[in-house]
Amino acid sequence: MKNNGLEDVIAAETRLSDVDGEAGRLVIRGVSLDLLVERATYEDAAALLLDGFLERAVTAADLKVRLGQARAEVFAHVRAADAALLSLPPVDAMRALIARLPDGEDFETTLRLLAAPAVFLPAVLRLQKGETPVAPTPSLSQSADILAMLNASLPTREQVAALDAYLVMIADHGLNASTFASRVVASTGAGLTSSVLAAISALKGPLHGGAPGPVLDMLDAIGSEDNAKAWLGQALDRGERLMGFGHRIYRVRDPRADALKGALRPLVMTGQVDPDRIRLAEAVEQAALAILRERKPDRPLDVNVEFYTALLLDALKFPRAAFTGVFAIGRTVGWVAHAREQALEGRLIRPRSVYVGPLPQAA
Ligand code: ACO
Repeated sequence: MKNNGLEDVIAAETRLSDVDGEAGRLVIRGVSLDLLVERATYEDAAALLLDGFLERAVTAADLKVRLGQARAEVFAHVRAADAALLSLPPVDAMRALIARLPDGEDFETTLRLLAAPAVFLPAVLRLQKGETPVAPTPSLSQSADILAMLNASLPTREQVAALDAYLVMIADHGLNASTFASRVVASTGAGLTSSVLAAISALKGPLHGGAPGPVLDMLDAIGSEDNAKAWLGQALDRGERLMGFGHRIYRVRDPRADALKGALRPLVMTGQVDPDRIRLAEAVEQAALAILRERKPDRPLDVNVEFYTALLLDALKFPRAAFTGVFAIGRTVGWVAHAREQALEGRLIRPRSVYVGPLPQAA
């Protein structure tokens, strides 16, 4: 059997997460997404995902302390950010710094990998603006420290809660392209750093984690609610895809979209985000859903995680070029957990291809 894009092919057994695309439901280690986002910090979600896949047990409290130390440790590598590296897009510069870390499969490697994108992305963003990187504060939570390193000031409670909700929400999501890349590399026994590097490389494409920046570009280009329908129609006429819509698995609304809207609400209510921006996004969403239904009646296309991600990360003052990097900060724990699961319980991943080229000429 051949299947382009491996659609509907089952390539791994996992105890990590389940994406039900018909019901629009995401379950992470037995916990439904809404409950997890409501109750868990990043450290809670990370401990949940890693449980049973490391050589020692980890609790969220333990992880908070050890992650703080790991952030301080990896910060030393920021010195390697030279002019050539800083001319790269943020996610590429972050990846280049992560490539300096040693490979391995143990708890120490895991800690470094969870800490590294959280430290490198804010540092790269500041250096690219000509500012001095801010050293981590090990006693802060991962989310609070990311924002402190980004803005050189302590974040508000609502900002920390919003980033925590985002990081928890995107920590794992079935066998998406970057997670599959991580498992493929893990299946060769290459090590967790290699798995994470492969996963970041898969994530950055616009069909996967590279969409939220373009979502904001689209909102800027549309500008006002009145212009939404015409702008979206012209984009589809040009054969473009509407960023933040459609999904390989979901045939209904991505449950993370509403969870993200929920995470934005406290920021809106406390005046930390422009309500007009949210109103415009909601109007664009409605116009896009209507036009997609009209133009693509055979393919249910709904909003995906990237649409409201763009608004949330914008509200937290991440520049749009950094959105994919923030996604990587959250998803690294999922990549690591999957890589460990694959290494411990899976086999070498080695599918076959069908040769459709010319055959050798008979002599
Ligand atoms: N806008 C317009 N048309 C779309 C969109 C979209 N966003 N998404 C899918 N379609 C159409 C395709 O043109 C195609 O139509 P056709 O059969 O008439 O040619 C049909 O729907 C099926 O598209 P496929 O590419 O086969 O669907 P696939 O499952 O491969 O695509 C994907 C999923 C890549 C996410 C797609 O919906 C897309 O490109 N969306 C825009 C980019 C985006 O938002 N990416 C983030 C995804 S979420 C994440 O990875 C975290």
